Amino acid sequence: MKKPIIPSMDIIGNKIIAVAKKDGLKNAFENIYTYMIDGTKSSRKPFHYCTLATIENNIPQQRTMVSQKVINDKNNVYKKIRFHADNRSPKKLHIDNEKINPKFASCIFYEQKHKILIRMIGLINKAAVIDVQDTWENDMTDLSKRCYFNPLPPSSRISSFDDFKINHEKMIHNSSSNANLSSSFDIIEFNIHSIEFLVLGIHGHIRARQYIIDNDDENVDHHDVHHINYYKEGLYLSEDWLSP
Ligand SMILES: Cc1cc2nc3c(=O)[nH]c(=O)nc-3n(C[C@H](O)[C@H](O)[C@H](O)COP(=O)(O)O)c2cc1C
Repeated sequence: MKKPIIPSMDIIGNKIIAVAKKDGLKNAFENIYTYMIDGTKSSRKPFHYCTLATIENNIPQQRTMVSQKVINDKNNVYKKIRFHADNRSPKKLHIDNEKINPKFASCIFYEQKHKILIRMIGLINKAAVIDVQDTWENDMTDLSKRCYFNPLPPSSRISSFDDFKINHEKMIHNSSSNANLSSSFDIIEFNIHSIEFLVLGIHGHIRARQYIIDNDDENVDHHDVHHINYYKEGLYLSEDWLSP
């Protein structure tokens, strides 16, 4: 008789499935948020880098981003991921575009070693000015501040490689010589409305999804919340296993 394969508990995907089986999907998703919070702490940890997609003129635009902060507390209806960006960058302009409302975005983490993919859909906005100031003053190193003293907006055309070098030198000069110079630093907030995991396994993949929708959220078409399983304290909620 073949020996049963015991899943390695060092693999995050296996841990999530074990929690989901034993304590239910709600707890499994809470565990995922704990890993995501931990992932913000170091580039060597899982869930540090993700892909964020926004919409530009009906065209999805994706880019790799560092997950800087994951907020999962009672003060916020939606759990949030915070990203740092130049406020002149195209992704930030997608948020500022008045014609796009509500501003949906999607975000994916894939951790190959941990056999898990996390996919989210949500709304994006700019963080409050006070949070941007606080992060700039208290959380950021001089090195990470440097990128936000770029004299040219990201994605601007540069006529030659020499111009590029000059621009780069100016950026380094600005960041070291003029700490009071106003920077282009900004924070993008991604508010999670739905989150799903896919755990890869040799006996088959396992997939589940969670929805959290605020009843008072004007951005959500409440006729479309047919997938909701239960309603609690002003929130439409559901956790479902999905066919992989
Ligand atoms: C590993 C990695 C991490 C990145 N992290 C960020 C980030 O946190 N914020 C950011 O604005 N761009 C980041 N970038 C750059 C973006 O992926 C992208 O090239 C750039 O921001 C384009 O922005 P746009 O979509 O606004 O044109 C990162 C790139 C890599 C390769």
